[in-house]
Amino acid sequence: ESTLGAAAAQSGRYFGVAIAANRLSDSTYATIANREFNSVTAENEMKIDATEPQRGQFNFQNADRIYNWAVQNGKEVRGHTLAWHSQQPSWMQSLGGSALRQAMIDHINGVMSHYKGKIAQWDVVNEAFADGSSGARRDSNLERTGSDWIEVAFRTARAADPSAKLCYNDYNVENWTWAKTQAMYRMVKDFKQRGVPIDCVGFQSHFNSGSPYNSNFRTTLQEFAALGVDVAITELDIQGASPTTYAAVVNDCLAVSRCLGVTVWGVRDMDSWRSSDTPLLFNNDGSKKQAYTAVLNAL
Ligand code: XIL
Repeated sequence: ESTLGAAAAQSGRYFGVAIAANRLSDSTYATIANREFNSVTAENEMKIDATEPQRGQFNFQNADRIYNWAVQNGKEVRGHTLAWHSQQPSWMQSLGGSALRQAMIDHINGVMSHYKGKIAQWDVVNEAFADGSSGARRDSNLERTGSDWIEVAFRTARAADPSAKLCYNDYNVENWTWAKTQAMYRMVKDFKQRGVPIDCVGFQSHFNSGSPYNSNFRTTLQEFAALGVDVAITELDIQGASPTTYAAVVNDCLAVSRCLGVTVWGVRDMDSWRSSDTPLLFNNDGSKKQAYTAVLNAL
């Protein structure tokens, strides 16, 4: 195959990309994005601050620009993200307690009903665990509403759109030996045992010198899949874009039948949230990097 999306499709998977609405008018960007990828995540446009800037007043203008571009070009869409401590609108940052709990529920219902039946996977909850060795939840205004906020988010999401796969998404959870990974594993195991509706786990996979790729990532994917959830690599970027590391990540996904696909977190290095790391698959002039060829050959 000659594109990442077509190559991934040979094994029933997708190869996706994070899209920024304001870059779609850049023809180099849009040409690569349309040619190479068959799944799309909005990099920021479906987040809480973007979709509900004032309480109860939803705005899907930029989210729909990405959604419509994706669907018109035959791509599936990952929704990102409904409940998160970050990129909250200021009105939500200042809420707490039962008012915040209700605002979270209302937000999930508002966004998911707009896209009902149209989203392959939703990142319902993002980044709820703390970094480091504690294995604890991250402190946040949402956590302070009661530690059941995560399961309430998933139950609300299932009722709002039963057709979407519901994912928990996080970073620094790729290394099987890390406490954060084990804490996420215990949560997913508990949810499955108690019937909390969760379908998938997203591994962001922002690899750099502080949190490098480790070959036990494949074990992590296998262990989560064995709990009865799908897994996905949701925001892949690799500091320096080592071709061998990119190929290893792809091979880890391909080795796990429940790995749905891989999403890279941007098109060209200049489009990356960490552009100085040159972590992506395309150069700024649109040419393919060595990492691109390594990924295509691995697929
Ligand atoms: C990042 C975006 O890439 C940036 O443009 C934005 O300024 C901050 O958020 N984890 C996530 C993503 O789940 O939503 C984040 O995206 C990167 C880390």
